[in-house]
Amino acid sequence: MSVAGLNHAFGIAGALVFEERPEGLIEARLASTEGHATICLQGGHVIDWRCLGQTQPVLWLSRDAKFAAGKSIRGGIPVCWPWFGAYGAATPPTKNAQQPGDAPAAPPLAGVENFPTHGFARTAAWEVVDSGVEHDGTVWLLLTLSRAAMPEAMWPHAATLELKVSLGAALQLDLVSGNIGAQPFVLGEALHTYFNISDIGKVSVQGLQGVEYWDTVGSVESKRQDGAVEFSTETDRVYINSPQACSIEDPGFGRRIHIRKQGSLSTVVWNPWTAKAARMGDLGQPDGWRQMLCVESANAWDNKLTLASGERHTLSVEYRVEPL
Ligand code: BG6
Repeated sequence: MSVAGLNHAFGIAGALVFEERPEGLIEARLASTEGHATICLQGGHVIDWRCLGQTQPVLWLSRDAKFAAGKSIRGGIPVCWPWFGAYGAATPPTKNAQQPGDAPAAPPLAGVENFPTHGFARTAAWEVVDSGVEHDGTVWLLLTLSRAAMPEAMWPHAATLELKVSLGAALQLDLVSGNIGAQPFVLGEALHTYFNISDIGKVSVQGLQGVEYWDTVGSVESKRQDGAVEFSTETDRVYINSPQACSIEDPGFGRRIHIRKQGSLSTVVWNPWTAKAARMGDLGQPDGWRQMLCVESANAWDNKLTLASGERHTLSVEYRVEPL
């Protein structure tokens, strides 16, 4: 649909407008009395969120982020779906064995080595389904990824996917997956949120004390979190059966970001540090890595989901900012 068509069908005066970016991608701009957010329709990707009383954006977007058809955007909230990490690889070897009640082992697919990391949803064209404003002023946008946008060669399953983005005092995302086929399928997913922070060496993640995680830097090792998560080197961890709430303490920006999730059993904490950031090429050299921290609400690794025929699953996350 054209920008004019989108504005005619879904635009809301003062609360939602669609615009074309200079590079050609279409974005939706949401505004409420409490802040504003921008969503790129490619990827269903929230690229910006500002909230009242905060001079700094809450989400980090790389200064080198690419806005091009079929390219993933570095920063904001990429939607990882229907797998997390490399296709089929993000499960420790010991966990690969079939368990009672698991979906039948899927037949091998051709060309898996070329399947995109974190799935295809983050670069696919999403469609707008609906929009609205609640009594309390929360404005929302509902998107869907049609079956036609799910490449059959990578995903031979009959699935539905919707993303609702709601902007009020908090920013909330609801990612709803459905199985409309006859067979169960296994699903991995994440809302891969990049937070804008004052300095990676001075922030911490609270709320993961005692949680077991896979440390994936170097050889994969199982560990248990002791105290708050602090950062002094490359960090790439998948916390398993993580609690519903955690937070980022950022004294430099004088704020705490609360992350509260439902339907998500894993939390991924990631910062690439210097060398990996330099290899990545779009992380905003020389110091982009210092200003970003990913705390991702996921169902990954041991926590992948099996969706039975007819089943729907919702992964919800709410972000809220509080002054310290
Ligand atoms: C994180 C992973 O979720 O995403 C990291 O834990 C990965 O291992 C990062 O490097 C970025 O992935 P991508 O595909 O966006 O470069």
